[in-house]
Amino acid sequence: MKIISVIGAGQMGAGIAQVSAAAGYDVLLSDINIEQANLGKQGIEKQLSRLISKEKMDAKTADDILGRIQCIGDYAPLSNADLVIEAATEREEIKRNIFDAVGKVIGKDAILASNTSSIPITRMAQAAPDPSRFIGVHFFNPVPIMGLIEIIRGLATSDETVTAITDYGKKLGKKLVFANDAPGFIVNRVLMPMINEACFALGEGVANIQDIDTACQLGLNHPMGPLTLADFVGLDTCLEITKILFHSTGDSKFRPAPILQKYVEAGWLGRKTKRGFYDYS
Ligand code: CAA
Repeated sequence: MKIISVIGAGQMGAGIAQVSAAAGYDVLLSDINIEQANLGKQGIEKQLSRLISKEKMDAKTADDILGRIQCIGDYAPLSNADLVIEAATEREEIKRNIFDAVGKVIGKDAILASNTSSIPITRMAQAAPDPSRFIGVHFFNPVPIMGLIEIIRGLATSDETVTAITDYGKKLGKKLVFANDAPGFIVNRVLMPMINEACFALGEGVANIQDIDTACQLGLNHPMGPLTLADFVGLDTCLEITKILFHSTGDSKFRPAPILQKYVEAGWLGRKTKRGFYDYS
């Protein structure tokens, strides 16, 4: 594997592009247009500058990493890609449209992967040109810092595809875990009920926002309290994943907390809108 294409240059896609380029891959980065892709690359440049100023990276290494990332405005160059990772918005229709378009240009041996956090891999594989070369590769935010990748195999995913993705993940220096194609896979199956329960606790007046977070951060030794983490992930994403867990299992333990729904309806989506459980303005 030499050329990786990342579709979606937001927080996750840019992070995946950065760590792939840092591992020596040539990266093609795209988004809805070249301007968005360029913005993603500028974000990577900023991250690398921070590392240089902390003397954790030298300027030559940062230049080499940036030099390996090429922003593209259409999918034609993907005909050379060995692996295409979709990291677009977490909406199945958007992802399916991407797989459909990308499927028309990629080579017959290329692997198509999705960074979805909760949409079933087996179902999305139906929109891929070859379901045996389709797989879930779930990164965590912030990608350069978080040490894990969840690999999710769809019903038709071949052993060769799993091996190729495993080699890629190892080259990135990440720890890999293998999950079955079940709602929320491993991490979100455990994380989202915790965030949702923190929302119930807040709504029921158990404690205020700060004390819920402090209790979990210091009482459980987590790097962030659940409400801070929800703001970090995005409340819309948390709600969407919780709904998927609820609807696909029918289990009432996953029912979304009213306060989470209310915040999303208010457009208070967390850090990205500068307002969530906390005010970031
Ligand atoms: N990108 C790159 N690096 C970042 C970063 C970012 N967005 N944010 C922080 N960092 C780096 C900092 O530069 C710092 O690096 P150095 O140690 O080299 O100086 C390091 O991370 C620690 O940062 P800070 O000292 O500023 O703050 P912190 O100690 O609170 O760490 C954190 C920040 C790493 C984000 C930490 O709070 C953390 O691990 N939080 C939990 C994150 C988490 O759970 N992520 C998973 C979310 S779930 C998900 O992504 C998947 C899904 O499907 C929803």
